[in-house]
Amino acid sequence: MFEKRKVRAHTNIALIKYWGKADEEYIIPLNSSLSLTLNDLYAETSVLFDPALDQDTFYLDGEKQNGSSLKKVQHVLDLVRQQADIEVKARVDSQNFVPTAAGLASSASGMAALAASASLAAGLDLDKKDLSRLARRGSGSASRSIYGGLVQWQKGSNDADSYAIPIDPADWGLGMYFILINKEQKKVSSRSGMKQTVETSPYIEEWARTTDEDVEKMKEAIAQRDFTQMGLLMERSASKMHATTLGAIEPFTYLLPESLHAIQFVQALRQKGFDCYFTMDAGPNVKVLIKEEQKAAIGQLLQEEFGPDKILYSDVGPDIQDITNELG
Ligand code: ADP
Ligand code: DP6
Ligand code: CO
Repeated sequence: MFEKRKVRAHTNIALIKYWGKADEEYIIPLNSSLSLTLNDLYAETSVLFDPALDQDTFYLDGEKQNGSSLKKVQHVLDLVRQQADIEVKARVDSQNFVPTAAGLASSASGMAALAASASLAAGLDLDKKDLSRLARRGSGSASRSIYGGLVQWQKGSNDADSYAIPIDPADWGLGMYFILINKEQKKVSSRSGMKQTVETSPYIEEWARTTDEDVEKMKEAIAQRDFTQMGLLMERSASKMHATTLGAIEPFTYLLPESLHAIQFVQALRQKGFDCYFTMDAGPNVKVLIKEEQKAAIGQLLQEEFGPDKILYSDVGPDIQDITNELG
């Protein structure tokens, strides 16, 4: 018999981005990446393998899912079934405490929570490395959400050696503000945006070549707790990533005019003596890396500029957690 299992996984925001796949089926990235796991944005997912079901069902925030959303979940369920040598269908229930598909990394927390809850529910006892490999098959960025703190996804070259490792617990006062430009679902998913870029943008080669070096520089900056260097490297990685999409055919961008305004506002705060740096993912929202000692002052300025309801904050998040005991 199967038990229902529930897991919480936190999102992560990459300081050095993953952008482009060397292998689409196994989700092997072109470059290594490095991220910060966040406490206040997460997903909770429960899975029950139930012999009475004749198909998989997936509810996200109480709504039954179809199409690509269901397919991506079934892909992970199939991998779990293969490993556990079972054929039973499953019911998956997930709650996002993060806007879905808005460039706030819902696929990272969602797929990490799914990989962990489904493998537990199937009776598998995977270690964190194997969980990271499984989550990666659901969404590349999810490989990093297995761990809290600062996390590196080592690109590797195949299914066995492409997984995340924890770099630093980041328990030295880092925080991140989110400037919400638009919480709606984006038109170009991360998956299709990076595919189009890899296939058509001449800039992708330089991106891949220089990004592994950026990861190494970021690790040095982290080891020295050199916050300014971390911030500058983070801005450069995001800017380079967004430059690749402008070289694609057809050219596209995730930036909205308001995103650019927010970026310039963050850079202007530096002129006023605040230590804060921007990053952006596959969506228009802008994230700001800060030190906790400047949280109140920077928060007030961001709220005045963008409105209090447009500003979120999170400090550093933990590893995935088995919360089966919280099942009602
Ligand atoms: P984001 O920037 O939010 O990560 P993506 O385009 O990478 O956007 O991925 C969004 C997709 O991730 C959703 O359309 C859905 O298929 C999947 N997803 C989001 N949240 C969950 C969840 N909690 N459980 C399973 N899949 C999820
Ligand atoms: C810009 O992990 O969402 O957020 O692997 O196709 O599911 P798939 O894409 P996803 O891509 C994330 C891209 C990014 C950068 C990052 O998180 O490293
Ligand atoms: Co994503």
